[in-house]
Amino acid sequence: MGDVTIKINDNGPLRIEGEVRLLDGEGNPYDLGGKAAISVCRCGASANLPFCDGAHGREGFSSCCRAGG
Ligand code: FES
Repeated sequence: MGDVTIKINDNGPLRIEGEVRLLDGEGNPYDLGGKAAISVCRCGASANLPFCDGAHGREGFSSCCRAGG
């Protein structure tokens, strides 16, 4: 596997870029269909968990994380 970047989008999902395996709580892998990037829900409102479906915008999800200081 190569480099992976995870960006915590403001008021939205985790954007994961790079080749990853995503496992459920029992260790079973999700079929990512060879996608180079996925968005994982942080708000819990998605109808397609664990993936973001845009519901965070309708729900008014608010979370901005900043590195450092
Ligand atoms: S973060 Fe997008 S639907 Fe939850």
